Amino acid sequence: MATASEIAAVGVIGAGQMGSGIAQLAAAAGCAVLLLDADSAALSRAVASISASLRRLAAKGQLSQAACEGSIKRIRCVSTVQDLRDADLVIEAIVENEDVKKKLFVELDKITKPSAILASNTSSISITRLASATKRPSQVIGMHFFNPPPIMKLIEIIRGADTSDEVFAAVKSFSERLEKTVICSQDYPGFIVNRILMPMINEAFWALYTGVATKEDIDTGMKLGTNHPMGPLQLADFIGLDVCLSVLRVLHNGLGDNKYSPCPLLVQYVDAGRLGKKRGVGVYSYGQKSSSLKP
Ligand code: NAI
Repeated sequence: MATASEIAAVGVIGAGQMGSGIAQLAAAAGCAVLLLDADSAALSRAVASISASLRRLAAKGQLSQAACEGSIKRIRCVSTVQDLRDADLVIEAIVENEDVKKKLFVELDKITKPSAILASNTSSISITRLASATKRPSQVIGMHFFNPPPIMKLIEIIRGADTSDEVFAAVKSFSERLEKTVICSQDYPGFIVNRILMPMINEAFWALYTGVATKEDIDTGMKLGTNHPMGPLQLADFIGLDVCLSVLRVLHNGLGDNKYSPCPLLVQYVDAGRLGKKRGVGVYSYGQKSSSLKP
């Protein structure tokens, strides 16, 4: 198994909000990155946004021109899981759905080299259950980045029941190579951050749903009242309302407490395709016409 400094080739699956940022970080750390998505349009968007983000850093003098162009060149878009056969580490960042992720882990287990580490960027799903879909549970681990990965300083590492000490050590040092601070969580629903954050976001939806206040006042209240950089409704839009709903369902099913039951307004927004900033509309509109949903 590769140690952190030997991790040379990184596969990233899912080129959405998170996967594109993770690919950028790995490329900037000198790794060859293989970026895979089921949707070729997502890959094109990811390459455009990574290039723009790295060039912005170069323009600000935070990255040399050579490092910027080198990082862009180190990212190769691929179209099948087989293309990841030489990866030392694969980081999965596809849709937050346990069955879909498990199916992918089964495939990855078959095609990646025996020494490869398989990591999931899941926000809430059990690493132990994902690992049990493979024949290498000791090499499966949670590597939970925050949005947007190039900016946010934290990686939450989740050990499954069988994750080995060597794999944990390799992923921890690799995370530090990406210049992130690491925290370690046991494998419980929502881990540390989302277990605490999602009930707050859900409560903000309940406050909006029951007419306690406007969305602006809820967000301003939490920004200025608790010194958060953005309010919970805006944060939910940035995370993706579909992701928030999936995490709440995992918390609700896994911990069995009604306090995690998703607010009907959040469910309704997701049903209506109002998924947040990535779709141009969620609780707020982002340069796109809002639908007629209330409030
Ligand atoms: P996203 O919706 O922006 O991107 C997901 C991408 O995965 C899409 O481009 C989709 O085409 C692709 N995809 C879906 N199924 C696939 C498959 N079977 N094979 C290949 N590609 C597939 O979602 P986002 O926000 O990037 O989230 C991805 C993962 O990261 C989820 O597990 C989510 O819970 C987690 N996460 C999300 C955070 C956030 O703030 N949005 C923060 C931390 C983790």
